Amino acid sequence: MNYNSGIVKKRIFITGSNGALGLNTVKFYSDIENVELLCTSKSATDIYPDVQFIKCDITNRDLVKKTVLDFCPDYVINTAAFTNVDLCESKKETAWKTNVKAVEYLAEACRAIDARLIHISTDYIFDGKNGPYSENDKSNPLSYYGRTKLASENALKISGINYTILRTNVLYGAAEKGKSDFVYWVINSLREGKEIRIVTDQFNNPTFVDDLVSGINKVIEFNKDGVFNIGGREFLTRFKFTKMIADYFNLNKNLIKPILTEELNQPAPRPLKSGLITLKAETQLGFRPHSIIESFEKISAGMI
Ligand SMILES: NC(=O)c1ccc[n+]([C@@H]2O[C@H](COP(=O)([O-])OP(=O)(O)OC[C@H]3O[C@@H](n4cnc5c(N)ncnc54)[C@H](OP(=O)(O)O)[C@@H]3O)[C@@H](O)[C@H]2O)c1
Repeated sequence: MNYNSGIVKKRIFITGSNGALGLNTVKFYSDIENVELLCTSKSATDIYPDVQFIKCDITNRDLVKKTVLDFCPDYVINTAAFTNVDLCESKKETAWKTNVKAVEYLAEACRAIDARLIHISTDYIFDGKNGPYSENDKSNPLSYYGRTKLASENALKISGINYTILRTNVLYGAAEKGKSDFVYWVINSLREGKEIRIVTDQFNNPTFVDDLVSGINKVIEFNKDGVFNIGGREFLTRFKFTKMIADYFNLNKNLIKPILTEELNQPAPRPLKSGLITLKAETQLGFRPHSIIESFEKISAGMI
């Protein structure tokens, strides 16, 4: 921390700052006083005119070390990942490098300066036979993406650093600045009169991105170690979620067609009965997610 001028400034380094979660995390911290922020992503960007940005491929060990040691953060928030679940099946090496090796490099750098690493994980570490899951349930990933994310968690558990793992599922509400997002995709498709096929057999608790950012901030506030689930208040199928979007935004529900996951023939298998129980985060971090309707109110206010 920086004690110059008597004000204690938290130094926060955010990876993956061009991504859905990264963008929203940068936005949150750039509005907060007493935070010295450095954000980074793989591709160059000019979307943060007021925030220090440095291009850094986190699979480059030396670059990670230099970037982290030069900035000397108190907290590293790792939102970067290879998140295309189906592509992870065919691009295994890139997936492993980005989702596992890079986390090890970040942990090494954090160890050198005693920084806390806050890392984002997923319900895809579970097989979806018996969800929703608590933090202590047995993992059994179905996909290569899930395997890499579980391996990243394990790497942190043996790293000897201060770490916090936040598991989340089905992030939404992050479409600002052109990022793809399920809710916006549904709204846009239905507005254009397009039929959409939505699975009726995937069950989880979608997570409003603002709630995940607030969960990250609670970790910083309470300096908590370990694994926490961060998810929405309601458990429902993707089909029901889509109907709620159509209802709230006054769109044609008849365009939403039911389909089963297996009919999509996706390369990566999906956990079906999934979702994350957030009781631990609620009791230990004071985590209070929005309801789906409350999140839609915020999304719709942002659209004006
Ligand atoms: N989205 C979900 O529904 C969901 C659900 C569960 C868990 N998660 C987890 O939540 C976290 C954030 O997900 P997200 O949806 O925000 O992901 P995202 O939108 O795909 O963003 C990920 C970012 O990571 C960056 N990145 C990829 N490879 C990199 C590399 N080698 N070096 C530096 N940066 C790299 C990319 O940067 P560039 O754009 O600059 O190339 C990208 O913008 C991830 O850990 C993900 O596994 C997401």
